[in-house]
Amino acid sequence: MKPALNVHAALSGKRVLITGSTGFLAKVVLEKLVRSVPDIGRIILLIRAGANGSDARQRFERDIATSSIFDRLRAEQPAYLAQFFAERVECVTGEVTAPWFGLPSAEFHALARRTDLVINAAASVNFREALDEALAINAHSVEHIAELTHANHAPLVQVSTCYVNGYNQGDMREQNVTPARASIPRHGDGYFDLYALQKHLEHRIAQVRASTSDAQELERRLTELGIAEANYHGWNDTYTFTKWMGEQLAMRAMRGRALTIVRPSIIESTLQEPVPGWIEGVKVADAIILAYARGKTSFFPAKADEIVDIVPADIVANSVLLAAAEAMLESPATRIYQACTGSSKPITVGGVIELIQGESQRNWQQYERLFYRQPKHDFRVVSRPVFLLLLRAMRLAATGWSGVRRLLGAGDSPRLEALRTTQLLALTFSFYTAPRYTFHNSSLMALARRFVSEDRARFDVDSTRIDWREYLCHIHMAGLNRYALRPRAPKSAEAQAAAAAVPEAAQTAQHAVEQAAPATPL
Ligand SMILES: NC(=O)c1ccc[n+]([C@@H]2O[C@H](COP(=O)([O-])OP(=O)(O)OC[C@H]3O[C@@H](n4cnc5c(N)ncnc54)[C@H](OP(=O)(O)O)[C@@H]3O)[C@@H](O)[C@H]2O)c1
Repeated sequence: MKPALNVHAALSGKRVLITGSTGFLAKVVLEKLVRSVPDIGRIILLIRAGANGSDARQRFERDIATSSIFDRLRAEQPAYLAQFFAERVECVTGEVTAPWFGLPSAEFHALARRTDLVINAAASVNFREALDEALAINAHSVEHIAELTHANHAPLVQVSTCYVNGYNQGDMREQNVTPARASIPRHGDGYFDLYALQKHLEHRIAQVRASTSDAQELERRLTELGIAEANYHGWNDTYTFTKWMGEQLAMRAMRGRALTIVRPSIIESTLQEPVPGWIEGVKVADAIILAYARGKTSFFPAKADEIVDIVPADIVANSVLLAAAEAMLESPATRIYQACTGSSKPITVGGVIELIQGESQRNWQQYERLFYRQPKHDFRVVSRPVFLLLLRAMRLAATGWSGVRRLLGAGDSPRLEALRTTQLLALTFSFYTAPRYTFHNSSLMALARRFVSEDRARFDVDSTRIDWREYLCHIHMAGLNRYALRPRAPKSAEAQAAAAAVPEAAQTAQHAVEQAAPATPL
């Protein structure tokens, strides 16, 4: 019998490079490593330069070291944390979308020689990103990352998404995904050969670029192109399409070496660690909760009886770290794990709505950043045809009323704005509220069983322990209110409240939604 796997044996003294650490998930991974693997050698954070010219270390100090994710360590082991940050966190300013990360050759290769493991979590999670941008960060950058792993035969843990399954339906296992629509040739080693697809996309992008010099129009058309190509090939949006391409390019670039793809489903706040409810930004489901809380939406197209797959961020971080430890200890191979709840602890769309709505109606005053007043309406789930009918009828009425208001010198009806928000949210997220598959995690659970019992407890990936009522009503709502939203702006600045109250990531989501509006009518 093989000896049990052990995270400390795998990572002790090792140098781990992480991308995406200014983002949500990688912060949870980083905190867990610092807290639970104290004998790790070094953590190298590859961070791109800030828009204001700040370098990686400056961004680390401003955006990561000060994050509330470290509050527990700051309280429990302040000296250890300060020393760890000073001595064992190395920050490298680099752009993953550029060959050698835009570094001089000598620097890139020196970095490669001092990297034992790579965790790649950088991505554009904007579902409707311009196609060229999405390809650069979600697909092509994986080749630059893979090149870094060559010198030291460093394993690569590629964070992907369960939704690479696109328009497929049914039971989704931890295996490579065949596109639901387009036929793409498959290589003997198992991955799909993207050469022709990449050439096709490059050609289409060049055509769009040649057709307009207006920057805004160009972005709009490239966003439209991304959705059209994604739909044609078998995905709902540019994000999942390009993440699937990223998986294929990773498999090709890492063949014969250690590659583990970890696919989370919809990541939400932590269940337990470092504290229950920690979250950054307003994610898919939260954008809808927030719109409901602000009275901007009260009905949504969804399938109430289908399983929606939500997974707490600490379960995902633990999955990434177990997968990393296995890749360090075992023979090189391509492995795929899904960090999800659909098969192990299912909850339906209707179940989530019932719990969140019940909590909102009962205890809305406890969530002062989320609710400015008691929610007036129930949140209703309707079928897509009914949604379209309702939207049209209500828009007609609200447009008429807005016309009257304008004649009287008042602005647009707030109802019109609410309908617009509903439409924009539905455009971006309705695919995820009408799920068509169940994600399985049996390989991940089997992996966890191979670890020593202390690691199974410390890096717990078992989603059967989730109590959905406790998690959604108490942990997640409180976490969303405390960590993802800023305190409400003073009354005098009411007009700015919506923007100011919502953190950058949420504004990005909103921006994505707004950007998408003219491109694809519902
Ligand atoms: N959130 C979810 O629900 C979810 C679900 C399934 C899978 N995932 C996957 O989990 C991973 C992490 O997601 P997240 O939610 O943590 O995302 P996030 O909060 O939006 O963070 C994204 C990270 O990627 C970096 N990044 C984006 N574009 C970049 C570029 N062009 N060059 C360099 N870095 C860039 C960002 O750096 P900057 O600060 O420089 O922009 C940031 O650190 C991603 O691979 C995502 O696909 C997420």
